Amino acid sequence: MNAKEDFLRFAVMVNTNRHEYGEAVSFGPFTLFPTERRLERSGSVVQLGSRALDILIALIQHAGQVVDRRKLMSRAWRNIVVDESNLRVNIAGLRKALGDGEDGVRYVKNVPGIGYCFVGQLTRERIATESSSHFSEPFPRVHSGGFAPGAARPQGRDEVLRTLASDLRRHRLISIVGPGGIGKTTVAIALAKRLSGEFPSEIHVADLSEVAHGDTVALTLARLLGLGDLHHVPVTCIANYLSTRRALIILDTCDYVIDEVTSLTTQILAVSSATYFVLTSREALRVRYEHVCRLSALEVPPGSEVISIEHAHAYPAVQVFIQRALEGGARFPQTRKSYATISGICRELEGVALAIELAAARVATFGLAGTMMLLGTRSRLRWQGCRNAPARHRNLAASIGWSYALLSEQEKSAFRQLSSFEQPATLDAILAATTNGTGDLSNAIDIVEGLVAKHMLHIQPGPDDLPRYRLPASERIYAREQLSQAALDKRSIVQLNGGQRICI
Ligand SMILES: Nc1ncnc2c1ncn2[C@@H]1O[C@H](COP(=O)(O)OP(=O)(O)O)[C@@H](O)[C@H]1O
Ligand SMILES: [Mg+2]
Repeated sequence: MNAKEDFLRFAVMVNTNRHEYGEAVSFGPFTLFPTERRLERSGSVVQLGSRALDILIALIQHAGQVVDRRKLMSRAWRNIVVDESNLRVNIAGLRKALGDGEDGVRYVKNVPGIGYCFVGQLTRERIATESSSHFSEPFPRVHSGGFAPGAARPQGRDEVLRTLASDLRRHRLISIVGPGGIGKTTVAIALAKRLSGEFPSEIHVADLSEVAHGDTVALTLARLLGLGDLHHVPVTCIANYLSTRRALIILDTCDYVIDEVTSLTTQILAVSSATYFVLTSREALRVRYEHVCRLSALEVPPGSEVISIEHAHAYPAVQVFIQRALEGGARFPQTRKSYATISGICRELEGVALAIELAAARVATFGLAGTMMLLGTRSRLRWQGCRNAPARHRNLAASIGWSYALLSEQEKSAFRQLSSFEQPATLDAILAATTNGTGDLSNAIDIVEGLVAKHMLHIQPGPDDLPRYRLPASERIYAREQLSQAALDKRSIVQLNGGQRICI
């Protein structure tokens, strides 16, 4: 398995609050208490060797999926290398103890050449336990490996997380949408962690920004679910597999595969009544039954009044800024003036978490006032972030560029033209700039709608009840750069064609 596949398979099963609760898993007359490493048959303990018990726990953990022989062996024999016959012996012992095969009852199925699969019908129940500390391996928790730091404890997202958790009781398809870097992935991962108790069997997280050329979202999901690496996994297979499970599937960064995600989720939701999807994307799917959560930016202090240090510190944008600045080795006095500058920076960056992180990382070198000053320059688009962040988050130009590339040619052109608006503008003004002399109003309306849906053009209420439209400051700088680049291209691109210089 390569690194990408490995990454896509993470976050498999969730331990239900391992310090206070364990799980009782029942099948046929048996009940398995994994945390206590005990198997009972109709209330009496079944004597089972420790290796056979390890194997049973691993199989039940991945019930319905084929568990590779080597994986089972490394689970039962940890660091010891043993012959495969040991596994066969223990599987035979396990089957005997379970009465597998008697009266047509099947629990453990051999998948020749690959491994074994637990095929019995399971019911799971949460139970209080004294301690589950010795059950350290089998039920790995959801983790956010590969995601940017900070995902574990997002600032200022308690309310939205509470709302999303409650919305998921009524909606099985929730899209978290918003501009790049605003915190969609962070919220989705935090939600998965929060819901680990409600989805005791499975939470799966797939980063779809990485779906390689030639792969499909269905294949990625099938791999994630452990359904093998078949190149043509029919979606119905995935849907049938999911139909018996209460599963939460997070599809992160659907931007470039939105049509495929639409078709896949629609088909699965139609068949499986226990599957829940949470998607993150710059744009909503726009399908029936979709519940859209438009993620707003982190709250920033108001600019209208002078506020105390404590008051400023209560704003999540300020908290993220200070945390990241300190992590970057910056030191600054805890004065009202410092906090006023920090508040100003957060306002200028409109509470976008990624932009705040990137600015905060400059403070160690330029100080607070210097960073504020630099915000007025185009360099802010190129400020480098974490080396291990996804490429589209290494700087603001990459983040906005990712969204820009999603636009149609007409939307791109309109986006560039709109960079001339310094202030929020009325729809009439925006449409006039968008039609660009063509007079095609209905096309211009579609373009404006597309830009708003993709979060490249923001709306705010106007003084006369009519909305106003504007490009956020960083987007405007980016659009201006694109505009000059396009003008430059038009003027100076020359094409050598049969030795003739043709100006385009
Ligand atoms: N609420 C938050 N608290 C702290 N850091 C955050 C928060 N939201 C986002 N971040 C940080 O901002 C960056 C971008 O967040 P991310 O969730 O990846 O954005 P998106 O998915 O919308 O593009 C990440 O480095 C993340 O750690
Ligand atoms: Mg994201």
